[in-house]
Formats: sequence, structure tokens, C-alpha cells
Amino acid sequence: MPEKNLALLTFGCQMNKYDSEKIAGILQKSGIRLTDDLDNADIVILNTCSIREKAEQKVYSQIGRLTPLKKKNSKLIIGVGGCVAQIQGEKILQRAPHVDLVFGTLNIYKLPHLIREVEEKGERIADIDNDYSEDNDLAPVKREGSIHAWLSIMHGCDNYCTYCVVPYTRGREKSRPKESILSEIRGLAEEGFKEVTLLGQNVNSYGRDTGEDIDFPDLLSIIDRVKGIKRIRFITSHPKDLSDKLIKVMADLPKVCEYLHLPIQAGSDRVLTDMNRGYTSGDYLKKIDRLKESIPEIALSTDIIIGFPGETDGDFEKTRDIVKKVCYDGIYLFKYSPRKETPAAIFSNQLSDTVKRARFEEILKLQKEITLKKNKELEGKVVEVLVEGEDKNANGKLIGRTRTNKIVNFSIDMPEDRKSLIGELVNVSILKSNLYSLEGILINIKGGGKYA
Ligand code: 5AD
Ligand code: SF4
Repeated sequence: MPEKNLALLTFGCQMNKYDSEKIAGILQKSGIRLTDDLDNADIVILNTCSIREKAEQKVYSQIGRLTPLKKKNSKLIIGVGGCVAQIQGEKILQRAPHVDLVFGTLNIYKLPHLIREVEEKGERIADIDNDYSEDNDLAPVKREGSIHAWLSIMHGCDNYCTYCVVPYTRGREKSRPKESILSEIRGLAEEGFKEVTLLGQNVNSYGRDTGEDIDFPDLLSIIDRVKGIKRIRFITSHPKDLSDKLIKVMADLPKVCEYLHLPIQAGSDRVLTDMNRGYTSGDYLKKIDRLKESIPEIALSTDIIIGFPGETDGDFEKTRDIVKKVCYDGIYLFKYSPRKETPAAIFSNQLSDTVKRARFEEILKLQKEITLKKNKELEGKVVEVLVEGEDKNANGKLIGRTRTNKIVNFSIDMPEDRKSLIGELVNVSILKSNLYSLEGILINIKGGGKYA
């Protein structure tokens, strides 16, 4: 049988990108090859995002753009997965007659079987069953790169923030068994991966649902002992569940990086209550102080929603104050987008796009100044970089990240050696800082070698 080609189009967050690595991995195992060429594809899969309304609206135009392909090749199989698929299910089949398959966020592992059903029976299928199955976690993953790997430690979210669709698209919180996580990480180490990022909507509540006597800090301690893995990161943390125990473990464990993404969402306590976030700005700032005391080098980032219903000028000022006070290394900014599945969509005092945009621009500008200032502080310093690969834009240079998650492009004296440095921890002297990256020169390889 000739090999089939899969074109995979991915939208949205890290979780979706990881799911796509899984879709590619599992289909590759059943003999299907990944291609960038839509015209030559036998299967096209859209992995969709519904976090904001615009993203969701775009899905239908993206699906629409595939119509000519289907006209050209009636055997083409079009599948839609991800968060929009999970929410809309059958409706996608009704609205888009050329879509053959709709699948949910928790049943990627069924894809080879579902595709076969479509091919053999000519049926159109919507399978958005959202029962957790470990099979999804055990499915093969086709990872981008060979040094850093994402892996999921839990699924879903029980927090029901009033603006957010995730609890409806990814279901209730479900922690993955410790042994399954560990065996995947050991396997990654054997394959030569050096860094892992543990993924979950709220990793701080890991273990709460398992009945096993284990929490997230315990899990980090166990992973820290896996030979071959040099760095550990995780996203996302919920401020209400960030414990002193976790801060201590982050400070003590050598492989856990000095970086934390801790979404505040808003600076006003009234807005935080309306969002159902479960903490005040004071609680949040206390945790930030403790983090900075225990881990002086820590880099912090956050998510902020601008223009939540009822956000006054005074509320907005509080968000601005927090941004100044915490001095984040980076911020992910979102204009509030009403999602009809969520309570906040019918809150009164929805703000105009003009107000949201003006506030958004103001925080963006402020944060750019802070990020650049923080990056500039690194000029002249020596930082540890895990080398991820060759810098595609600059001949002879390498690219990697600091423990604080900043991208570094750096040159080396003997560029002919550059391939041998991939996967190594090296010391780099920072010569110039930009907004989104640092530039430097190699000083030595940590732990020896001819550059020591
Ligand atoms: N509108 C705008 N931003 C949102 N987010 C989640 N839901 C919405 C929404 N309805 C943002 C939050 C979350 C990030 C992943 O997306 O800041 O932390
Ligand atoms: Fe959404 Fe809140 Fe859960 Fe984050 S914690 S995924 S914002 S419901």
C-alpha cells in the first residue's frame, strides 16, 4: 500500500502543540507520513483552539479553505480535533459537509481506528467522548527537536474561572499515574533528551485526584533523580495552589529551573473575585515575595486579561501597579473575549473593544520596557545555556536557553565544532540583550571538554 501523507495544522496553546506531536506520532506509527504540502495530503487534520472567540471563528474559515482540496481529491480525509471539536462535536459535521471526522482532546489515541472507519465504511464520525484513558498518554509522540521535550502530567481543569472554556473543552482534572510519567521521562533520557517541561492546566494540584500519597513537589523530587535529564520546567501554576513546599523544592532541587509562569489575570480584588480566581492580589504578591526571597535568580512570567466585564479605570490601574511591582520577565496579554459557554459572557458591563485595546497597548508598552530593562541587566554576565541547536538565521552560531527561559544566540571560536555542542550545558557571556533574545559568546562547556 502506498504511504499516506498527513498535513497537520495546529492552532493555540502549548497543550495543543503537544497534542499535535502526539497526533503525528501515533499516525506515523501506523505508516502515515507528515507533510507540509496540503496539495499532496491524503489526510488533513486541523487541531483547533477555542480560548478566544476569534480563534474559534477562524476555524470555520480554515475548514472552508479546504473545500477546493476535497473537490480535487474526493478521497481526501479531513479531520478536526482540539478544543473547538470538543465543544462543537456533531455541529462541525453539519456545518461543514466536507469534514469526515471530528475528534476530542482526550481520544487522540483512537485516531488510526477512526480514520480506518472513515476509509472503509465511508462514514462521517464525531467522537468527542471525554473519558480519560491512559492510552492517550502512552501514545507515541513525534517531538520537535531532540533536546527538549514536552510531556503531560495531568489533564483538564476543575477551577472554572468564569471566563474560561478549558474545563468544558478538556474536562475535569485528572492526574497521570506517577509511574507512567517516570517511565516516559526515563525513556526520553535514554533517547538523549536533556530537558523536560511538565504540562498541565494546573500542575500545582497534581495528585489530588489519584488517591496516591503524592503531590506536585514530590513528583518534582522524583523526576529530579532521573539520570540524563539536566533541566526540569513546568506550566501552568495556579497561584492559589502554589505552596511553600513547592517554593522550597524549586529552591532546593538542582534541575528545576529558576523560572515560573504564574498567571495573575488581573490586579483588582473585585475583578479577581468575579473571575473566581480564589486569591487576592495581596495573596499573590506575598507568594511572589517568597519566591524572590527563596530563589533570587527567578524569572517570572504571567497571563493578564485586559477588559474583563466591569473593569474600571481604577481596576485597570491595579493591574498596571502589579506589573510594575512584580517586574515580570514576560507577560502573555489577552483582551477579554466572551465565550458563550462561560458565566462571564453574560456579565453586565462588557467593555468596548476600543477601551480594551487602549489598555492592552498601555500594558504592552510598559512590559516591553520592563522586559528590555531586565534583559539589559544580563549584559556582561555569564549564564548557563542548554544548547538546543544551530541558529538557523546566523551562520556558525548556536541557539539555546538560559535556566530562566531566555533565548540565547551565541558564537563560538571554533564553529566547526558546533554540532558536538548540541545538548551540552555551556557558559555563555552575554554581549547584547534584545527584547526577545540575548546574544553572546561561548566561554566554556560546563563540566569540562576542550573548551574548559
Ligand atoms: N478571554 C481572554 N483571555 C482568556 N484566557 C482564557 N480565557 C480567556 C478569555 N475568555 C487567557 C487566560 C489564560 C490564558 C491561557 O488565556 O489569561 O491564563
Ligand atoms: Fe481556565 Fe482557570 Fe482552569 Fe486556567 S485555571 S485553565 S484559566 S479555568
